[in-house]
Amino acid sequence: MNRLPRLRPLIAALEAYHPPIEDRRGLRLDFNENTLGCSPRVLEAMRALDGETLARYPDYAAAEAELSAGWEHSPATCLLTNGVDDAIQLAVTLFAGPGDEVVIVEPCFTIYRFYAQQSGARLVRLRYRDRETGPGRRTFSLDLAELRATIGASTRLVFIASPNNPTGHLASPQALLDLAAEYPETAFFVDEAYAEFVASGYRGLLPDVFSRPNLLVARTYSKAFGLAGLRLGCLFAHSELMPALRKTHSPYNVNVAALAAARAAMRDREWVEAYRREVMASRARVETAFSERGITWWESAANFVLFYAGEQCQPLLESLHRQGILLRDRRGDHPGALRMTCGTLAQTERALAALWAAWKEPGRVHA
Ligand SMILES: Cc1ncc(COP(=O)(O)O)c(C=O)c1O
Repeated sequence: MNRLPRLRPLIAALEAYHPPIEDRRGLRLDFNENTLGCSPRVLEAMRALDGETLARYPDYAAAEAELSAGWEHSPATCLLTNGVDDAIQLAVTLFAGPGDEVVIVEPCFTIYRFYAQQSGARLVRLRYRDRETGPGRRTFSLDLAELRATIGASTRLVFIASPNNPTGHLASPQALLDLAAEYPETAFFVDEAYAEFVASGYRGLLPDVFSRPNLLVARTYSKAFGLAGLRLGCLFAHSELMPALRKTHSPYNVNVAALAAARAAMRDREWVEAYRREVMASRARVETAFSERGITWWESAANFVLFYAGEQCQPLLESLHRQGILLRDRRGDHPGALRMTCGTLAQTERALAALWAAWKEPGRVHA
């Protein structure tokens, strides 16, 4: 038998990351993507790509200028990345190596852990506090005192998603800014992949990177803009930090199709805004429906709702899958929890009807 070359022990010991992407036919309420697809103007831009454009390495200048301006930034404070995933890897590479600490607060997006572990840094895992805010209604929130007690001389990087996935919880922007001010030697990576769903025109921490050199803010075209397949994100940071980020970043990680698509998507803000309104109506509908049925759910500022299905998780997932509706199993994050992406109202009604038909013994279900 041929022998494999020797792997770095750190990588050999890692568990592979396997998102459940097989057999995703049907109504995609499992990955928090845009459930309608992208703006038709993006498709026009894709059709307009020609052989000459594809034959060349990307020239980023014009796209960077236009896209960063769309976020009220400039290329001096905005770096295009291959999705937020790439920005996460970049931050880990820049700030954390063996002996350093990376802090995450769980349940959270798996990729923080994935890249932190690859780097050889020590991963410090805190938990969000889970508390009841009303009958059958809960929220996960950040324990700031615990976070402060955790940050020490070796803490190089803290990841916070706001809104967070899978909980939907929005961190207080002021609390995050205070933390960044208090610990200037630690980088704070605030992942705002779902910011479009918070409120119309919600800016999150985008304006604050100008004044906080240790703050990194990530946005994506994968969610509200409907371009997950093209892989494009933006990482915002202080202009003095940007040269270090740029020299760490792989120079051609973003492709020309993604640039053309994002430019077209940014020019069709009405389309994103219309989708955002639809999602917010869907989210309210899901929350009301769960409350009426006595099903526990967690407050969300994003395009999904986490809810408690207890022992029924598996039969519900299977029954909905048979009907062509995909939900996400989040039992690994919280016992008995499932997550449902909120798309259009019609899609939400279809998913709720399937859920009630499959749900045995309806009535109050506690987390
Ligand atoms: C919190 C969070 N950040 C980032 C991402 C990934 O973003 P991208 O597709 O831009 O890599 C996801 C995807 O689910 C997410 O939930």
